[in-house]
Amino acid sequence: MNKILLVNGSPRVHGNTAILAEALANGVRAAGGTIDLASLANLKLSHPGCSACMGCQQPANRGKCVLGDDLAKLVESVPNYDVLVFAFPVYFFHPNAQIKMFLDRMFCLFDAKTNTSMIPKVKMAILASAGGSLAGGLEASDHFFISLARFLKTPYTSFLKPLCPEDSSRLKNDTKTLEDSKNFGQHLAQW
Ligand SMILES: Cc1cc2nc3c(=O)[nH]c(=O)nc-3n(C[C@H](O)[C@H](O)[C@H](O)COP(=O)(O)O)c2cc1C
Repeated sequence: MNKILLVNGSPRVHGNTAILAEALANGVRAAGGTIDLASLANLKLSHPGCSACMGCQQPANRGKCVLGDDLAKLVESVPNYDVLVFAFPVYFFHPNAQIKMFLDRMFCLFDAKTNTSMIPKVKMAILASAGGSLAGGLEASDHFFISLARFLKTPYTSFLKPLCPEDSSRLKNDTKTLEDSKNFGQHLAQW
């Protein structure tokens, strides 16, 4: 059974992403997997994204983000997991900025000299929601992650939820969507 890290990029800690993530987590646990839920909204950052300092590319710092803040610690924990789930709202046709900050810091898990990922065994998934249709940014986000997974040579899958009401209490009562997200979690646990 897989050990999963879900990184929630939404600034709304009780919003749609959190509701979908909780349903997904229920599915993971029901299938016998384990999951850690991390919200980027609560982290203290010394620098928003990657500062391009190249400190992580020094042999002594392999797999470490030398910025040393909360985001660095979370990114450094990724090799401990079998599956990494990026959970986020679409903002302006793309994953929101908090997710991009996390991704850019993942440069420390990449060897730029040899162009190789240090985490080829960590599978990647996204759990993305949007107010609009699939064409309103979900498909673009999916394509972005498909390219990234191909580059990192890791398997990839996605759960995309269009037409999400801004009022999250409505998603809480959408039993079909919650069941679908739970099923996705069950799949990830055994993937
Ligand atoms: C700044 C901002 C930009 C957004 N941009 C888009 C967009 O480009 N396409 C879309 O379909 N929905 C967009 N939305 C809607 C959110 O993706 C949607 O409400 C999402 O489910 C919110 O998730 P959350 O409750 O976890 O924050 C945007 C919302 C905000 C606040």
